[in-house]
Amino acid sequence: MTEILKIEDLTVSFGTNVGRVKALNNVSLTLEEGEVYCMVGESGAGKSTLALSVMGLLPQNAEVSDGRIMYRDIDLLRASAEQMRDLRGREISLVFQDAQSALNPIESIGSQLEEVILEHSDISLRNANRMAQEMLREVGLADPQRIMSQYPFALSGGMCQRVMMAIALVLRPKLLIADEPTSGLDVTLQAEILQRLKDLVKEQNASILLITHDMGVVASMANKVGVIYGGSVVETADVIPLFRRAQHPYTWSLLKALPRLDEPGRRIEPLPGSPPDMINLPEECSFLPRCFKVQAQCRAQPKPEAREIEEGHFVACYNPVVPED
Ligand SMILES: Nc1ncnc2c1ncn2[C@@H]1O[C@H](COP(=O)(O)OP(=O)(O)OP(=O)(O)O)[C@@H](O)[C@H]1O
Ligand SMILES: [Mg+2]
Repeated sequence: MTEILKIEDLTVSFGTNVGRVKALNNVSLTLEEGEVYCMVGESGAGKSTLALSVMGLLPQNAEVSDGRIMYRDIDLLRASAEQMRDLRGREISLVFQDAQSALNPIESIGSQLEEVILEHSDISLRNANRMAQEMLREVGLADPQRIMSQYPFALSGGMCQRVMMAIALVLRPKLLIADEPTSGLDVTLQAEILQRLKDLVKEQNASILLITHDMGVVASMANKVGVIYGGSVVETADVIPLFRRAQHPYTWSLLKALPRLDEPGRRIEPLPGSPPDMINLPEECSFLPRCFKVQAQCRAQPKPEAREIEEGHFVACYNPVVPED
């Protein structure tokens, strides 16, 4: 297996007038060629910050204080603006979480798509136009010619999301970062888009870092899973061990909150409490106030480091859930 993306100890914060938001704290992950890595976690956990860090698109008030992001042998945090521009679109693409606001409101869909194609390849406008139309059809937009002439405000949220997907996929990237690509889409369309992503992996040996809060999407897409809480990865495993033998109480809680067709009588247990304050993150484990496995050691010690509990399965917890619990 060849590593395509390796993130080590990534630490990112945002300066605000009420203090520093510690969005990512020593986040590490490895994505292999031809794999889908799902990063799952609730709102505010740091998922989009991770996506923007890889793309080199963090806002002005962000500071990367530690870590490395390697795309093959290129250190993305130290790459020049020109090198990043070249990689974006051609090799690495991002499907933004908020498609409607990521599209340029004053440019037609057609010219936004053509622009991406023309910037990174040496083809005629006529061929770029044809490619753009084909791509729109591929993401399930009927009548691409009409869509090409329209502006983002005239399209529904779901249509914008598909346009965003078309822009991200049109140059056949080797690494796709998809930030909640199907949230807000109805289920049939969601299935279609997920299938399109699977095809990308299979046909082009591409790799996907898929960001989601939806365990159902994780189950259908992931090879590997990272669970992020309060800006830290608390559990990582291949998808099957993660679903069968989740050990971090937070992962466990996410799974318990999932409706299951095979266990119709089972109670769905929502996770009590609220996410941590990312400005005043505690020294100890930030999941502690919501944790059903909390014990004296958790309060007395700094937040736990990740430990390997079986091959490739890492958990950052002093008192993990044992599968028979
Ligand atoms: N530009 C910014 N300035 C200040 N704080 C920010 C900025 N962008 C994000 N944050 C904060 O950083 C933390 C992580 O945000 P991020 O958008 O990465 O979360 P997320 O996991 O993508 O959430 P969601 O599921 O809602 O999209 C949050 O506390 C958020 O409020
Ligand atoms: Mg987000």
